Amino acid sequence: MSGAKHSWQVWLDRRGRLSPLRVATLALLLLPVAKVLFDAGDIADGARPINDLIHRAGFWSLVFLGVTLAVTPLRRIARYGNLIDVRRMLGVGTFVYIAAHLALYIADLKCDLAKAFYELTHRVYLIVGGLAWIGLAVLAVTSTDGWTKRLGGLRWRRLHQTIYLIALLALIHYFQQTKADLTVPVFVSGLFAWLIGYRVLAWWLDRNELSTLSLLALSIVVALLTFIGEAVGIGLTFGVSPLRVLETVFDFDAGIRPGWQVLAAGLVVVLIDVIRARWPTRAPRAGAAAAE
Ligand code: HEM
Repeated sequence: MSGAKHSWQVWLDRRGRLSPLRVATLALLLLPVAKVLFDAGDIADGARPINDLIHRAGFWSLVFLGVTLAVTPLRRIARYGNLIDVRRMLGVGTFVYIAAHLALYIADLKCDLAKAFYELTHRVYLIVGGLAWIGLAVLAVTSTDGWTKRLGGLRWRRLHQTIYLIALLALIHYFQQTKADLTVPVFVSGLFAWLIGYRVLAWWLDRNELSTLSLLALSIVVALLTFIGEAVGIGLTFGVSPLRVLETVFDFDAGIRPGWQVLAAGLVVVLIDVIRARWPTRAPRAGAAAAE
């Protein structure tokens, strides 16, 4: 299938051909919607259906923000340059979920815009979320080819590097309204720390690609930081000594701690790197490097 492409035909590549990678990305982006339809009965029977949807939209926008950030490291580590083709789609998809998150929040306030504005400017976790929201909106608007040209490559790249700051704000917002169990927020933060650590290490070593050993070291350091971060978080939340929490990291009866989960994710990445280093690769697509 090929021919002229309309901008809404996101499943077609630049040359108008059906792209399996784009179809898979679209399916991934629609997965939370499918899950909502699947859980519709439970959601409707729940105490606060709209609040449930707010949480789902917020959580998935954070997940897709992470997936968007993972594109650059993954395309290098997996030697799969074509992944760059779906980065914009993932970024815009993230923004669609975050737009739904805000719209649902306003709907939950019975569309009382004055009240929404008051809350958004007076509650700290909403101020933080609001700033992240504005940042994502700016990045979504300027993600087009027109804006890339208008701003120039360097300025566009600088602007879009603020995504790391936005991710940090989004994580703070996530923690601020997490009431009891810190496991998932700590795990998600560990994954973001890995992604940010990858960029910092690549910049520090002045290299585009990190060696297998660097990836292994990064994964171990981030896993250790995740253990420490969780211990400090639990310590502050429940008033116990972080050292007592750290003493229990090998106690698997209560579940696998986020530090282990982050280490496992890091080791999977290392494994991908080892396997792909031994496979012959095709020459990178022209223009792919420039797009980064
Ligand atoms: C105008 C901006 C925003 C508003 C009004 C807003 C509002 C909310 C509200 C009301 C909750 C539920 C709080 C509770 O039930 O106690 C929530 C949770 C959450 N929000 Fe936001 N938020 C905003 C921006 C963001 C952004 C930019 C992100 C991430 C990219 C985000 C991610 C999350 C996450 C991950 C949760 C928790 C989901 C879970 O429980 O699994 N939010 N937000």
